[in-house]
Amino acid sequence: MLEKLKEISDAVSERLSAVASLAELSDLKVRYLGKNGEITALLKGLKNCSSEERPVVGKRINDLRQAVEKMLAEKEEKFAAFLKEKKLKEEEIDITLSLPDKNACGSLHPLTLAKNELIQAFTGMGFSVMEGVEVEEDYYNFQLLNIPADHPARDMQDTFYITDSILLRTQTSAVQARTMLTQKPPIRIICPGKVYRADDDATHSPMFHQMEGLVVDKNINICDLKGCLDEFARNFFGADTKTRLRPSFFPFTEPSMEMDVSCFMCHGKGCRLCKGTGWIEVLGAGIVNPVVLQNCGIDPNEYSGFAFGIGIERCAMLKYGIPDIRILFENDLRFLRQYK
Ligand code: PHE
Repeated sequence: MLEKLKEISDAVSERLSAVASLAELSDLKVRYLGKNGEITALLKGLKNCSSEERPVVGKRINDLRQAVEKMLAEKEEKFAAFLKEKKLKEEEIDITLSLPDKNACGSLHPLTLAKNELIQAFTGMGFSVMEGVEVEEDYYNFQLLNIPADHPARDMQDTFYITDSILLRTQTSAVQARTMLTQKPPIRIICPGKVYRADDDATHSPMFHQMEGLVVDKNINICDLKGCLDEFARNFFGADTKTRLRPSFFPFTEPSMEMDVSCFMCHGKGCRLCKGTGWIEVLGAGIVNPVVLQNCGIDPNEYSGFAFGIGIERCAMLKYGIPDIRILFENDLRFLRQYK
């Protein structure tokens, strides 16, 4: 009998170590401790023992029964812990991750903001928006605009050449020429877009944005130019902005001028922004050179016009107090988020 008990005990521990699922464990329980289980059968068989043997054998069987119950319970506990662990692992969430910001959304780039404001200032005065090409012919970018090959004015606008006659446009003025060739006056357009020059420092970038403006009609003169640009300056830089025109030179305008606005930081007293002068240079302009009108098929005896070119980066830098043009193109999110 004692041998039989030992056999059962060994068999249980051997089977237990091989158990791989809760179902198998439950089968083992039935096999040994169930109503018809092996240990239950032993207990039932006690009645066949002699009365001296019975208490001793009975105690042994009960001990075995308790030991098996304990082994099964331990195994069950281990299983449960393992399954719980597995489930937790599967459902693991990284609580160190920050919550997605419900208000996170993109915003317009300061250059786009400045460009949109510039466009708005001029469309409000009846201008329409034209776009040209960035890979341009020398003919439209220079020749039609009265800048023949080898003209010294080309020095200021050295650029990137694709071939001898195809280049990355240096000025949106190229759209001016294309428009005059295809539209009859009255013309009133602005052309915002990218331009390229072989320049690179804190205030110049090899790629930057310009907005050309062109008006061609009968009897257009400097008063029209000044009135239009004054209106723009007040609209963009503030209602109390003053302007002044200084003589300058561009081959495609005659006379040519540059326009300064009164410094909107110190209101003319002189500060760091205006370098102590009280004025800030914002654009180049002039009366369209009759040679250019003629080049583009418009009779200069009948029509006249004015044109201007605004640097969009320069406007954005002035308006938002950005000290270095390169910041605009680095796209550091900490910088961009300020313009939400
Ligand atoms: N295209 C000139 C430049 O890039 C600016 C300009 C445009 C000046 C139109 C006069 C008239 O420097």
